[in-house]
Amino acid sequence: MPRHLIDITDLTTEEIDGLIATAEDILDRPDAYQDVCKRKQLATLFFEPSTRTRLSFESAMLSLGGNVLGFSSAESSSTAKGETVTDTVHTVSCYADIIAMRHPKEGAPFAASQVSEVPIINAGDGGHNHPTQTLTDLLTIHRERGSLSGFTIGFCGDLKFGRTVHSLVNALSRYTGIRYIFISPLELKLPRYVKEHALKQRNIPYEQTTDLSAVMPELDILYMTRVQKERFFNEEEYLRLKDSYILTPAKLSDAKPDLSILHPLPRVNEVSVAVDRDPRAVYWKQVRYGKYIRMALIMFLLGLTPPPVTTSLP
Ligand code: CP
Repeated sequence: MPRHLIDITDLTTEEIDGLIATAEDILDRPDAYQDVCKRKQLATLFFEPSTRTRLSFESAMLSLGGNVLGFSSAESSSTAKGETVTDTVHTVSCYADIIAMRHPKEGAPFAASQVSEVPIINAGDGGHNHPTQTLTDLLTIHRERGSLSGFTIGFCGDLKFGRTVHSLVNALSRYTGIRYIFISPLELKLPRYVKEHALKQRNIPYEQTTDLSAVMPELDILYMTRVQKERFFNEEEYLRLKDSYILTPAKLSDAKPDLSILHPLPRVNEVSVAVDRDPRAVYWKQVRYGKYIRMALIMFLLGLTPPPVTTSLP
């Protein structure tokens, strides 16, 4: 049976730590990895738009010496003729060694994993989960803070539909010494199922507020998110909520000097472009790290080991 990544909890914390260590090694010596996936093929099946996830997966596989195939919209596949997701994945698993898929329906990657003979990676399913963004976020936190424990993190924006938030809370709840502050409009609070599963069952306390300014001085990490237009059934409701939080340099005036501002991107206008110049804004580094952690994940799911470190004699 192939190993899949559908939910971040499919990986143990030891495995996550190992992926982070591998990604950091790739960052240090990328050339050592250039042939690890020679003659392997990655298929990217994106039934929903993407820039970072799809292209970072493709760049990751190409940098490992492998090849890529796939499609970037449902309309350009036989889905447009009525083919089911499972038949599509069954077909592609005959051509590729590993598949990364994004789908607007929650649970579609899990259904795909039931018929695939090759590893399936959930590259985002509706408003549910986005485990490879979480690996990217964890690598970013690790590189910025040197640890995945002992900090206060504020999640701000659309916590209801924000799949990156759901997966990251699930991942962090298995590490220790983390204080959680959820900042959102009342209509976009973190879903009860995420709170129950990740936090309440583990007796992890958390705070909820609508006021970002009030908690800003307490944060070590601020995880900003976009209000997810595509998940709203009601345009009026989206327009009313979309600008609930707009982070500007002025709003950071009483933030900690070593705050790390993360955002999975894309942004609309919840983070002012002027914030990009603040050294505490690390979301462009986060984008870059996404490729390296995906390189580590592809190797892991294909059962390929990192190349050994060779040291030359003096
Ligand atoms: N963070 C993220 O999933 O970005 P894309 O939608 O561009 O892939």
